[in-house]
Amino acid sequence: MCGICGVVGHRTASPLIFEALRRLEYRGYDSAGIATLDHGRIDRRRAPGKLDHLQAVLEAQPLAGTTGIGHTRWATHGEPNEQNAHPHAVGQVAVVHNGIIENYESLRDELVAEGRVFSSETDTEVVAQLIDLMMSRGASPQEAARESLQRLQGAYALAIIFARHDGLIIGARHGAPLAVGYGEGEMFLGSDSIALAPLAQKITYLDDGDWVVLTPRSVQIFDEAGQKVKRPAQPMALIAGAVGKDGYRHYMEKELHEHPVVIGQTLQRVIDPVSKAVALPEFGFSLVEVPRVTMTACGSAYYAALVGRYWLEAEARVPVDIDVASELRYRAPPLTPGGMGLLISQSGETADTLAALRLLRRSDQRIVSILNVETSTMGRDSDVTLGMVAGPEISVASTKAFTAQLSVLAALTIAMGQARGTIDASRAQQMVSTLFDLPSRAAEVFQRVADIQKMAVIVAEARDVLYLGRGVCFPIALEGALKLKEISYIHAEAYAAGEMKHGPISLIDKDVPIVVIAPSTILFDKTLSNIQEAKARGGRILAFTDEKGAARLSGIAEQMVVLPEVDAFVAPILFTIPVQILAYEVALLKGTDVDQPRNLAKSVTVE
Ligand code: G6P
Repeated sequence: MCGICGVVGHRTASPLIFEALRRLEYRGYDSAGIATLDHGRIDRRRAPGKLDHLQAVLEAQPLAGTTGIGHTRWATHGEPNEQNAHPHAVGQVAVVHNGIIENYESLRDELVAEGRVFSSETDTEVVAQLIDLMMSRGASPQEAARESLQRLQGAYALAIIFARHDGLIIGARHGAPLAVGYGEGEMFLGSDSIALAPLAQKITYLDDGDWVVLTPRSVQIFDEAGQKVKRPAQPMALIAGAVGKDGYRHYMEKELHEHPVVIGQTLQRVIDPVSKAVALPEFGFSLVEVPRVTMTACGSAYYAALVGRYWLEAEARVPVDIDVASELRYRAPPLTPGGMGLLISQSGETADTLAALRLLRRSDQRIVSILNVETSTMGRDSDVTLGMVAGPEISVASTKAFTAQLSVLAALTIAMGQARGTIDASRAQQMVSTLFDLPSRAAEVFQRVADIQKMAVIVAEARDVLYLGRGVCFPIALEGALKLKEISYIHAEAYAAGEMKHGPISLIDKDVPIVVIAPSTILFDKTLSNIQEAKARGGRILAFTDEKGAARLSGIAEQMVVLPEVDAFVAPILFTIPVQILAYEVALLKGTDVDQPRNLAKSVTVE
């Protein structure tokens, strides 16, 4: 959420920064801006809205200079207009910021009392004002930055340039991610490795509290106490090539098509493909003795966790508590020491999930995280990281990360069940073989796109849509409703099908399509009764089912998408795919901005 970058070197900085911002745009697209140093003078261009607007401004008035910083914004404080766009420049300083300065009001009052005049409504401007004030009193850039950082509370990743100091950028990270990229005679700062991949040969992920002084040929990192420290540099993974649309219309379309490969790759990471034994990293504690698992996540990752709860409870017989991270952290749940805190996050940077991690840590839980970005803050703060292999997910609405999360959760369920004696060898074998069969079943889903499109025509005309599912398919209904809301802006609600009669049934009429997730598993008959109740009240039934279910639903469902029949255990993974495709097809019909839906962003680093 908010992407920042910095370039200090020998090439014209602005085009490099602009391209890095393109790769960071998934983190916010309310406004964008770049500031550079041109012969010691700060020059900047800013524009509200997406990067295309900034591009037009830059084409008309290019920026010179080989030192610069850039920002793409997801607005927190202040409207997304030009005045509030970053970089914020005050006197001798320009700053870009990702995060929230929580004590900005008191700092602002203090600075106003010093006679300082503010020109934006943002929390960030206090940083530029503070540093400029100190420099106007004779402090060097480094002294001014260090002392200002000590005054800031909240979360921030910052990049700062200073007038008359060409060839210098200072960066800082506290609760929001920031990495340093190393080039030849040039250095870079970026919110993530995707931003830096084509620029840098090596990358260092800063620790929380670190700040860094960059020149074209040097990188000096200091910790919170001001001590010079060394942080490991890793070769830059070759991910740049993976960040393109590969001929698809949208990143979301591309990422939907990656489901089969991502499921396959992730399964091979967590289950040995030869011995078919679950192969998770060493936990360093006994899975048998875990008294309870506390699961938490946000957004789609939370729905993946909900599926995980059904699996862990039913198959591994371990008690599970679950909540969205923003609630869990304020619930003060009484936790037994030695329990497992299980977090799920694509980015590993989501502020609410991170805060929940810290609560779980304080409550003596063993922290296990299921992550796509293992180098993320959550990755580094966890006892055990279970990596999914989803690759970069650029579309703001999560797709392939969800099935990758479920694939890891499935393996964890088998591992826990075997350790606790609730899953015997033959059941484990059966579960693994049904999982390994999934990539091909997932590929078959794309042969059903024409049927999904017919369903999309009905959904696209609706104002409200109900999604129903039972058991492990209830979270898939939740995921379907969320995806539809996020990218088509159609109001959708998901209910456990059995709960419909306790309220939402009153909404049903011919204008409210009812999307049902109904594989022919043990709960099919119950779900069918709920469908009949809706049908009897004039509801239009749109069903995702399998061949066996289709025979029972014919004459009841107005439109069906019939998937291959799979073991009930993996049904939620398979059924996710067409449900997400439905949202995509509806968004296409509505003509919305699929990859960058309004008001949303990825890597949500604010609480
Ligand atoms: C945002 C995204 C969602 C994502 C959620 C959690 O809200 O729009 O797609 O599911 O964050 O993100 P995480 O990176 O923690 O999985």
